[in-house]
Amino acid sequence: MKQTGRRTFLRLIAGAAVSGSVLDGLLRKTGSQPLGPASTQAADGLKLGLISDLNGSYGSTDYSSAVERGVTLLMQQQPDLVLCAGDMVAGQKRSLTNSQLKAMWAGFEQSVWAPLQKAGVALLPAIGNHDGSSQQHQGGWIYGRERQQADLFWGKHRGNLQSGFIESKRFPFQYVWRRPGLFVVVIDASSANVDSTQRQWIQKALNSTHRQPEDLCLVMGHLPLTAFSEGRARAGECISNPQELAGLLRGAGVDLVISGHHHAWYPSESMGLRLLSLGAMGSGPRRIIGSGVFSPPSLTLLEWSRPSELISETTIDLNTLQPITNNDLPAQVSVPGFPVARRRSMQWQRSSLI
Ligand SMILES: [Fe+2]
Repeated sequence: MKQTGRRTFLRLIAGAAVSGSVLDGLLRKTGSQPLGPASTQAADGLKLGLISDLNGSYGSTDYSSAVERGVTLLMQQQPDLVLCAGDMVAGQKRSLTNSQLKAMWAGFEQSVWAPLQKAGVALLPAIGNHDGSSQQHQGGWIYGRERQQADLFWGKHRGNLQSGFIESKRFPFQYVWRRPGLFVVVIDASSANVDSTQRQWIQKALNSTHRQPEDLCLVMGHLPLTAFSEGRARAGECISNPQELAGLLRGAGVDLVISGHHHAWYPSESMGLRLLSLGAMGSGPRRIIGSGVFSPPSLTLLEWSRPSELISETTIDLNTLQPITNNDLPAQVSVPGFPVARRRSMQWQRSSLI
């Protein structure tokens, strides 16, 4: 981070700690819902930090200033939990050695995981194509070493998630996690292939007896069900055969499907589901199809106020620390061969039909 930018940002954060929240002031200016004070969250609701796509170039062990700002913002906002939709490190290159892969996860630990852990914020990961792609060739993993290192890292760091696991045999690739009021199914969408075995597992997971009717039900995976950004509307960049999987998720009453990979923030509805394509927290901003604007580095805060049942999403531009309005997003993203996604409101109720 450049010194001037860092100083300005630290001043903002310091001000926020003293005066309630500078960010809340920014939100009020734009007519968005204020964020709850960092110290009083979750008394009668839930506050989640949603992030994705942190990685830099292949092999890199450090993170951009936008990621640093995002981590600091999360520490200040103290969500109940952070969900990361994948691409935490920069693998998926066969020439990277095991020690390089290890060094990348150590970099993630130092820059992201440890500061959050120290601030008492747990992080639920989904595995992205750069963390450990599930792409196969002749029945074997193409990026097996990446998957092994991801497995080792998260095996070592699963401790603070332990109390929430409902099913964790394939953690961190596929697992079910619950706390009162929240039911999360993490799927392995680290490549386009979410096969029939996994689809059966997802169905079973969503029908778990541990899931309560009042739980907010989230499904998170790296690749999305449809195309959002330029350069990503092609085979291999979205989950294959999405209609069938969408039908399964719709039938199971999933509230929100969260994805990354397209580096473009777009809250939408598609195939009868509520979707959230997260912007990249790090580098590689992309243009939403039909839009002239690149999606800036961002993170999303999701707050659920139980008494009103209102769920409110606020997405923060990590360059300006301003909330982003969805007014500038195209009304729909429509690409031949992919399900149409229509822009939706950032405020919604669980019971509302979409
Ligand atoms: Fe990705």
